[in-house]
Amino acid sequence: MTPTPPDHSRPGPAATPHPGPPPASGLTPGPGPAPGPERMISRKSLLKAAAVAAGAAIPLLTGTVALARDSAGPGRSLPATPTCDDGDGPTHDQIEGPYFKPNSPLRTKLVTPGTAGTPLTVSGYVLGRNCVPLPGALLDFWQADDAGNYDMAGYTLRGHQFTDSTGAFSLGTIVPGLYPGRTRHIHVKAQAPGQPVLTTQLYFPGEPRNSTDTLFDAALLMAVRGAGSGKEGTFDFVLNVDGTPGPGGPTDPPTDPPGGTWAPGQAYKAGDRVTYGGAAYRCVQAHTSMTGWEPPDVPALWARE
Ligand SMILES: [Fe+2]
Repeated sequence: MTPTPPDHSRPGPAATPHPGPPPASGLTPGPGPAPGPERMISRKSLLKAAAVAAGAAIPLLTGTVALARDSAGPGRSLPATPTCDDGDGPTHDQIEGPYFKPNSPLRTKLVTPGTAGTPLTVSGYVLGRNCVPLPGALLDFWQADDAGNYDMAGYTLRGHQFTDSTGAFSLGTIVPGLYPGRTRHIHVKAQAPGQPVLTTQLYFPGEPRNSTDTLFDAALLMAVRGAGSGKEGTFDFVLNVDGTPGPGGPTDPPTDPPGGTWAPGQAYKAGDRVTYGGAAYRCVQAHTSMTGWEPPDVPALWARE
């Protein structure tokens, strides 16, 4: 369809937060960021490093993406924006725009083999303002296609997902096309379990229209680098909530299966079979399991046999 006025020309429909999985336990208010010299250290980086060192590998549903900011490359020179320790505060909000649709599908990959455009993977973490990763946080993405059009009839290039037990997410999509009045961007709603929704947009560095789009916010720039024939982007969301690692967090070992072979923190692939609550289930979509995604609760991931 032909896009009509740019996002900032009129408000969109009211946000409708998705009913996410049960809030991950442990997301209770915790102490805020420590003042003083500690603020000079990237607590976010330390936490991520600790999570990786502890064996909490970055769970990527697409399987192959490395975090650009954690390795040498063009994205390395960009500041981690926003950080939760530099006084910049939580991730900035942006208007929703006219193209949001509620009830998007649960999926991390928004493209099919026939989707036109430059492949793009966006990955990162959702953190509380005290830099603690937030498991089970909702991320609902929507964007224009390669030609700059939004699918208002269906759900092409729309999808929501939840951060895994380490607070990480990964989105498989394409680089969105340009449309009149706007620079290149991806829309997203982010919500920690039981907390307010943050509506914002992510931007691409080096875009000529960044300097003319009145909505553009440099604090919402992803780090982007080339990756084969596509691109990899990274961005860490910082939500205005306190977070404390709960069960399934980066420092917690997997818990015992609750009455079956299913367990959180496992990388299941399509076709895998588990039992839960006395019933058998078959995995229909590869994912990393987590508390709140028990087989009976997520029919998009598990089919009862
Ligand atoms: Fe838009």
